[in-house]
Amino acid sequence: MGKVTISAIKADIGGFVGHSAVHPEMIETAEGRVRDAIANGLLIDGKVNSCGDDVNLVLTHEHGVDGERVHEFAWDTFMACTEVAKRLHLYGAGQDLLADSFSGNIRGAGPGVAELEIEERPSEPFVVFAADKTEPGAWNLPLYKMFADPFNTAGLVIDPSMHDGFTFEVHDLFESRSAMFDAPEELYDLLVYIGTPSRFVIKHVFRKGGNEPAAVTSTQRLALIAGRYVGKDDPIMIVRAQSGLPAIGEVLEPFAYPHLVAGWMRGSHHGPLMPCSLEANTPARFDGPPRVTGMGFQLANGRLVGPRDMLGDISFDRARATALEVTDYMRRMGPFEPERLPMDEMEYTTMPAVSEKLAGRWTPIDALTPVTLATESADVE
Ligand code: F6R
Ligand code: MG
Ligand code: MG
Repeated sequence: MGKVTISAIKADIGGFVGHSAVHPEMIETAEGRVRDAIANGLLIDGKVNSCGDDVNLVLTHEHGVDGERVHEFAWDTFMACTEVAKRLHLYGAGQDLLADSFSGNIRGAGPGVAELEIEERPSEPFVVFAADKTEPGAWNLPLYKMFADPFNTAGLVIDPSMHDGFTFEVHDLFESRSAMFDAPEELYDLLVYIGTPSRFVIKHVFRKGGNEPAAVTSTQRLALIAGRYVGKDDPIMIVRAQSGLPAIGEVLEPFAYPHLVAGWMRGSHHGPLMPCSLEANTPARFDGPPRVTGMGFQLANGRLVGPRDMLGDISFDRARATALEVTDYMRRMGPFEPERLPMDEMEYTTMPAVSEKLAGRWTPIDALTPVTLATESADVE
């Protein structure tokens, strides 16, 4: 067969209960539509899952990246799930469908999209990671570890086909521009940017000198599209593994450390990214903590064998316990930074509306009557 495209597309189209999970009827609706699309030949295969309050579709097909018919299918599927959400009065029905109607591409319309067009290898293992209550930059640190850190990925040292390193494509979401960095030569340059995950996000990782991606992420930020707060962006990514790419265990290894990410309650707090099983991935405490699931697949002539629950394994139990400890620690700071996001990030939440109300309370310091100063000088005499 020719090239196959893997599309991972997700959207928050209604929560059960609040922003915590999706309703089983939404999953059934999406699965029914996927079955139809396989039967009518649009898709080779497709799986429906969820992470928190986001429905995610993993689809394989031959329509390439940005394939209009596949994007339209995903849009229509999310619309159908939205109808279920409306009927059941689920919370925030249709939340991520920002456009009024489909107009050729689902990118920029609200849902998150990560797509790869590949020549299927004789054996093609890959993992689709889905996160809830965080933003696309949450993938920066794990991707850096997988593809650039020899303390995480032994293959960078040991495997001759990985020893030359990888190339990172970074997007600047504020200025809408893109740059490439080679690792390991330009590691320090790369880190100048990806250490600011609210703005700079890794879009692709490539094998050195090649243009077939090893990893791809969704990079949409809803607030930047809509110009107002519409919830966090809850990203998704696809990472291929083995045979000259990081081994599955090297791809999973970064999630043994629940690093701090932005998101959580009201998209306004820092919390640990907790690895979760596919069964137990529903935010609860303080609408979180932020979480990630890993769906492992093998491709067989474009067919999806899986998913297997990669982060549900007991080897991540300690990471879950650490995440809960960090949760206790962070929560005690309540509304203070750095538990609450810094002021400039709050610009993308609902807080500007509150600050606006309080604007009249402020007086320039220079215009203050020097009452205190006068009293102090009187005391000295
Ligand atoms: C975070 C998130 C939730 C909501 C919170 C308030 O990404 O989705 O924490 O922000 O539950 O939701 P509303 O404003 O819809 O009542
Ligand atoms: Mg939601
Ligand atoms: Mg969500």
